[in-house]
Amino acid sequence: MRSSLPVGIALIVTVLVLPTMGAAQDAPMPTWTADVGPIMREKCMNCHRAGQIAPMSLLTYEEVRPWVRSIVLMVENRIMPPWHADPRYGSFGNDRRLSDDQILAIGEWVEAGAPRGEGEFVPPVFAGATDGFLLTGELGPPDYVFKVDHGTLVPSGGSDFNSEIMVDTDLEQDIWVQAAEVRGNFNVVHHNVVSVIGPDGVHARTGRLASAVPGKQWDRFPVGSGKLIEAGSTLSFGLHYHPSNEPVVDTSSVAVWLVRDEITHELHSSVVADADLKIPPFESNYESRGEFVFETDAEITLFKPHMHYRGKDMLFRVVYPNGTKRTLLSVPNYDMNWQISYEFAQPVPVPMGTRLEVISHFDNSTGNPWNPNPSVAVLWGQDSRDEMMEGWFDYHVELEEPIVPDRVEQVWSVGP
Ligand code: HEC
Repeated sequence: MRSSLPVGIALIVTVLVLPTMGAAQDAPMPTWTADVGPIMREKCMNCHRAGQIAPMSLLTYEEVRPWVRSIVLMVENRIMPPWHADPRYGSFGNDRRLSDDQILAIGEWVEAGAPRGEGEFVPPVFAGATDGFLLTGELGPPDYVFKVDHGTLVPSGGSDFNSEIMVDTDLEQDIWVQAAEVRGNFNVVHHNVVSVIGPDGVHARTGRLASAVPGKQWDRFPVGSGKLIEAGSTLSFGLHYHPSNEPVVDTSSVAVWLVRDEITHELHSSVVADADLKIPPFESNYESRGEFVFETDAEITLFKPHMHYRGKDMLFRVVYPNGTKRTLLSVPNYDMNWQISYEFAQPVPVPMGTRLEVISHFDNSTGNPWNPNPSVAVLWGQDSRDEMMEGWFDYHVELEEPIVPDRVEQVWSVGP
């Protein structure tokens, strides 16, 4: 955790504040306890707490006070909370943008000297933050926990690296999953995407089961939908490690909760990709496209753009069978540090024959501050210095016959 002592800044704030105090006498000044604490509880604290990827905890007044200048800059420029969808398209259930009023309130509060206010602000308790699972509070203990056999040593310092670890499920019957939570040491796990490999060793239709990325650890599926893990499947943990300043052993796991009620829809996760991309040296706006045609009626539940350091923007649009086009998500300023899933507030129906088009651009010029090397042609590859063009999406399809799962008793857990 970083620390900082912006004492000078605090003094400047106090001086600046005095002249404005009188002007705003009518409207009550925002305070920590009444206004800013609750905003930050909703929009910041899930990341800014111990054991998460953010550099400092922002749960209490004492923790927040030294950071107020930086907080104003971050929220006014919409750098925090991270969210990169163009607000003109789509309505997303997990949208964590601050409203204009919230940004204004934080600005006024800091200008007023960041007053604490009356009463007490009680920060949220994150159940299972250090052991157990966050979803346990709502769903009870998980039905299964699948865990890597051996921990991975993440040495201190050094550059990021990827690791793919296979975890046998040892399942003897098919299971339908309504929620899954990915755990690991989030001081070093930047993200982990867990996918299902079928009993034949091939990527299953289910695809991505769940993922943990900065600020998000679990996936819950719409009521009536489930993700299928067939008996004999293996799980692939796609881990991206970001070393911290001390050596850490990570032992990642995924917990799953089974669907208890009737299943009417099967959830799939798929991807539109352009593995043939070839970005010329110094090219600032290389376009890459891909598409997918829905062969049945379906409903799209989420999108997740994935590119590396040269990724610039990604747009998802559908072309309906009658030729009408509709943009569903636009991410005009992609940032590789945030692997954000955009989850629709309401699944978006796509009739059979609808084409999903994914259009993206890459910046391999010197103008891209993240660019590791503008003078090379860039090809597809796992390494962050190579590129990927992947537009992930989840969609569900109605089953011919609804499935009523066997009455599942709380079964057993795999692993300790
Ligand atoms: C999805 C997780 C997440 C959310 C939500 C989030 N942050 Fe952050 N925040 C981070 C991470 C990670 C960093 C470090 C980024 C870096 O080092 O580039 C950070 C950095 C910051 C910094 C800069 C720290 C510095 O070193 O100067 C400030 C200030 C900040 N966040 C404030 C906020 C505020 C205020 C909110 C809510 C309105 C918020 N954050 C929401 C993850 C998050």
